[in-house]
Amino acid sequence: MVAISMKGVILAGGKGSRLLPLTKITNKHLLPIFNRLMIEYPLNTLLNSGIREILIISGREHAGDFIEYLGSGKEFKAKFTYKVQEEAGGIAQALALAEDFANQKPITVILGDNIFDPRFKIPSFEGGARIFIKKVKNPERFGVPVMLKSGSTSSPLQISKILEKPHKAPTQYAVTGLYQYNYQVFDIIKNLKPSARGELEITDVNNSYIQKGLLTAKAINGFWSDAGTFPSLTQAIKWTIKNS
Ligand code: G1P
Repeated sequence: MVAISMKGVILAGGKGSRLLPLTKITNKHLLPIFNRLMIEYPLNTLLNSGIREILIISGREHAGDFIEYLGSGKEFKAKFTYKVQEEAGGIAQALALAEDFANQKPITVILGDNIFDPRFKIPSFEGGARIFIKKVKNPERFGVPVMLKSGSTSSPLQISKILEKPHKAPTQYAVTGLYQYNYQVFDIIKNLKPSARGELEITDVNNSYIQKGLLTAKAINGFWSDAGTFPSLTQAIKWTIKNS
């Protein structure tokens, strides 16, 4: 389990365009997954791992709904802070808003549409950056690691590069939306250039850590799914109902 003092960031902005028309009048992360709103799942992943100081970053239009629904954190025995991303410009752009909150300390970042097995615990973190990868059937939909070595306890996973949504995936792994970074992440984001789709990509942040030799990866067991498309949302709902 992570040290109690570790801070967490939930990224809950974006347009949610792959879930239109459901996201026409609300934020994707406020849609239900069975009997809870989507954001509660990544929130619980952090809380279950002992992370209690949490920043929630969302778009301007529905920021009030997050505050209304989750409050100060008191009922979760935690402390929530909120920030507004004025315009959707990518995951890394949203993360840049966490700089003051992080206050030079390491952070755990989770995407608001990522549903992890409730038994999953985020491990403690030393420094540099760490990503969590999971074998999936459709890696082309995700960030995909190019691996030099398959991992075992004696030889850790070695990743030479991450490809964002490649046409042909080099491995069966997806980079999940859970990341741990040291304070350098904010300088890396400041030097990023927008991708072809005009966004600051989290994959470029991770590739920068790889180039510095500072990124480690951990393969996870148990259920994981994003919930940002109709098939993945359905998959997350089905799994949650079956396992409740
Ligand atoms: C984002 C990341 C991708 C990652 C995925 C995990 O993709 O860019 O690398 O694999 O989250 O959910 P998006 O859902 O924004 O398309």
